[in-house]
Amino acid sequence: MSLFQIINFKQIADERGSLVVLEQHKAVPFAIKRVYYCTGLDPAFQRGFHAHHQLQQLAVCVTGRCVMVFDNGQQREEILMDSQDKGVLIPPMIWHEMKDFSPDCVFLVLASDFYDEADYIRDYAQFRQLVGH
Ligand code: TYD
Repeated sequence: MSLFQIINFKQIADERGSLVVLEQHKAVPFAIKRVYYCTGLDPAFQRGFHAHHQLQQLAVCVTGRCVMVFDNGQQREEILMDSQDKGVLIPPMIWHEMKDFSPDCVFLVLASDFYDEADYIRDYAQFRQLVGH
C-alpha cells in the first residue's frame, strides 16, 4: 500500500483560467488553522526532514514541480508533485522531505493546527524509535 494519500481537487476551468477550491471537511479532511507556502526554492537544498506528533497537513504544488519523499520508518516512497489539482496528505508520524524544486515552484500547505515546534520530530533516529523500528 502506498504511503501517499492523494486527494484530487475539482478544477473549475474556463477561457479565463482555472479555479481550485479547498474547503475544510470537504476537499481538506480536517479543520484548517494555518496556511503557509514556500517560494523561491533552490533545487540545491532539500526541506522538511521531520515528522509531526499530531499535525495533519495537505500539501499542494500550485505552480511548478517538486518531489516529496515519505518515510514511515520501514518504507520510503517518492511522489512527483506537479499539479495544482492534486494534494498529498501528510498525516502525523510520517517523516517527510521535499526536493528537486523547479525555479517556479510554489509549495502550499494547509495545516490542522498552529505552528508548534514541540509537535516536530526533527531527529530521524528518534522518529524510528517512536514508530517502533
Ligand atoms: P522549517 O521547518 O525548517 O521548514 P521546512 O519544513 O520547509 O523544512 O521551517 C523554517 C522556519 O520557519 C523555522 O524557523 C520554523 C519557521 N516556521 C514558522 O515560524 N511557522 C510555520 O508555520 C512554519 C511551517 C515554520
